Amino acid sequence: MVKEMTETNLRSAYAGESQAHMRYLIYSERAEKNKFPNVARLFQATSFAEKVHAGNHYRIIKSKGEAVTFSGAIFGTTNTSEDLQAGIDGETFEVNEMYPAYIAVANLQGENAAAKSFEWALAAEKAHLVLYEKAKKSVDQGKDASFGPINVCSMCGYTLEGEAPNKCPICNSPKEKFKSF
Ligand SMILES: [Fe+2]
Ligand SMILES: [Fe+2]
Repeated sequence: MVKEMTETNLRSAYAGESQAHMRYLIYSERAEKNKFPNVARLFQATSFAEKVHAGNHYRIIKSKGEAVTFSGAIFGTTNTSEDLQAGIDGETFEVNEMYPAYIAVANLQGENAAAKSFEWALAAEKAHLVLYEKAKKSVDQGKDASFGPINVCSMCGYTLEGEAPNKCPICNSPKEKFKSF
């Protein structure tokens, strides 16, 4: 069994990543409609990364049955600039508070698999934050972002602009594990 507090954190992280996955798909469709195809592609990539995180967290949870989960969520955005700001706000919370705190608790409780899953997510969220900030600068000037290929590791969700590396810098998976957007 996973210790209770870490398992509660895994459930919250799973719920938060699941919702981020869906929000970014919604934002991607809106960006496409608003003629920001590269921003749409960025949201496709980050959405896939959040799905990877949700799956990694979910598979570690061992308690069977229903549980009420608590997670942050963002509502009420109406355009791509606001969508990117929502992404920045969500990722900032995860990078500065949520994942560092969850990692600390998991380490304290000797829950190594959970700590690793949280660390993998943290590394990806840092990258998402940088990419959203870059995209928002362009969108706020009325222009699409200029991104090359965006690659996401299907094992840990690590996200980078440019060609896939031979080895994932976060989880060491080989190049073939990267999905290109
Ligand atoms: Fe993210
Ligand atoms: Fe990876």
